[in-house]
Amino acid sequence: MSPPSQPPSRSTKRDLERYAGLFAARTRVMTSSAMRDMMAVTARPEVISLAGGLPDTSTFPPETLAAVTARIAQESSAKALQYGPTDGLYETKECIAEVMAAEGMTVDLDDLVVTTGGQQVIDLVVKTLIDPGDVIIAEGPTYPGAVPTFNAYQADVVHVDMDADGMRVDRLEETIDRIAAEGRRLKFIYTVPTFQNPGGATMSLERRRQLVRIAAQREVLVLEDNPYGLLRYEGDALPPLYALDGGVYVMYLGTFSKILSPGIRLGWVSAPPPVLDKINVGKQGADLCTSTLSQLMVQAYFERGDWRDYVGSLTEVYRPRRDAMLEALEEFFPPQAVWNRPKGGMFVWVTLPDFIDTTDLLARALRDNVAFVPGAGAFLDGRGHNSMRLNFSASGEDRIREGIRRIGKVISEQMELYGTLTGEMPAITTEELEIARQEDDANAGAEVVELRRRRAAGE
Ligand SMILES: Cc1ncc(COP(=O)(O)O)c(C=O)c1O
Repeated sequence: MSPPSQPPSRSTKRDLERYAGLFAARTRVMTSSAMRDMMAVTARPEVISLAGGLPDTSTFPPETLAAVTARIAQESSAKALQYGPTDGLYETKECIAEVMAAEGMTVDLDDLVVTTGGQQVIDLVVKTLIDPGDVIIAEGPTYPGAVPTFNAYQADVVHVDMDADGMRVDRLEETIDRIAAEGRRLKFIYTVPTFQNPGGATMSLERRRQLVRIAAQREVLVLEDNPYGLLRYEGDALPPLYALDGGVYVMYLGTFSKILSPGIRLGWVSAPPPVLDKINVGKQGADLCTSTLSQLMVQAYFERGDWRDYVGSLTEVYRPRRDAMLEALEEFFPPQAVWNRPKGGMFVWVTLPDFIDTTDLLARALRDNVAFVPGAGAFLDGRGHNSMRLNFSASGEDRIREGIRRIGKVISEQMELYGTLTGEMPAITTEELEIARQEDDANAGAEVVELRRRRAAGE
């Protein structure tokens, strides 16, 4: 009698060998996103995930969704179920222009392509501009979700450090000169200037002006990625780079993901017409057009006229969550940890002593049912191993506090282990405390204030 047939395992060693010869060369440098890899684990209800960049969609009124979808079904069912133009529906572009106007930008609707999320913009811009080995300048750390895209197209990413005022634009010119002197081709500068993911920092007005000036003088394109600009919890709004430059060198990425829903997968790009034409061709090959149903949902929703109220309600939900996270960090993280105080967005970036590797730490934290994004996923030059990104938009205050308590415990264990093995206790010295105080004073008026722990070890 033949044995019962077994379902084939998902990938045996033999399978892998068989397929390896088929894969394109670029797959050897393709990497997986630090965040998406974790989604399966973090979806478990017992896990407190401070890892994802998820907006809290439970805040969106189900009645509104029902009304919007019912209206589409009644009034434009055939259109909603049909293909649309690659660059998007005119009426959707009108909604986009409204969102951009809310942040002080004017845009010609012909300069827009509606995309399948902002993520597709990153893919299409890189696809349009990058040959293997071409250079992209990006903040260090940069958006972890862009890293797999940069890798897939074999871009050479040069990081420019950040501080409390965002990208160190004062170092930009020397970086551009160095890239040119090395005979490498710089194609564009990628930046998230407002409430950066993952760093939380916001680029100061002075640096924004400087960046736009350098872009014009050096004739370098900039991709401004701005999903979080409307999620401000304190302070005054700053003009986007796109508004300062008028869309000449600055390409703009926007998205409905963080102000309405990531599930509808709707974003957009504005770029100089020759670049936009190539982006359009790239999009034809990628997905023909963005979901017409999603575009009609945005239109129907915007016609209600209350989209800004919903964004306002989101800021009211997220502000106390940010505060809860900052308070819990004060309470549960060791004195050697350093973090920032974001004035908006969804993330706090924490840096720990150099001997801690947050990728290892995550494995330990997951055993305690808590997750964060290890910092290494936000750099392409091997840095970030002792940093982590913490999200405060997706969990309520109590869970945030408990999550930070658990991570703090795991960090303390690592620090004790280090102390036992080396005989040293990494402590903040009086001298370091003084430097930290001076930095705090200098940063007092800045967009993001570095909060150094003032408590010496053992206090
Ligand atoms: C900086 C940044 N850019 C782009 C995206 C992509 O967002 P989406 O594709 O949902 O519009 C995200 C999502 O978290 C982001 O944080």
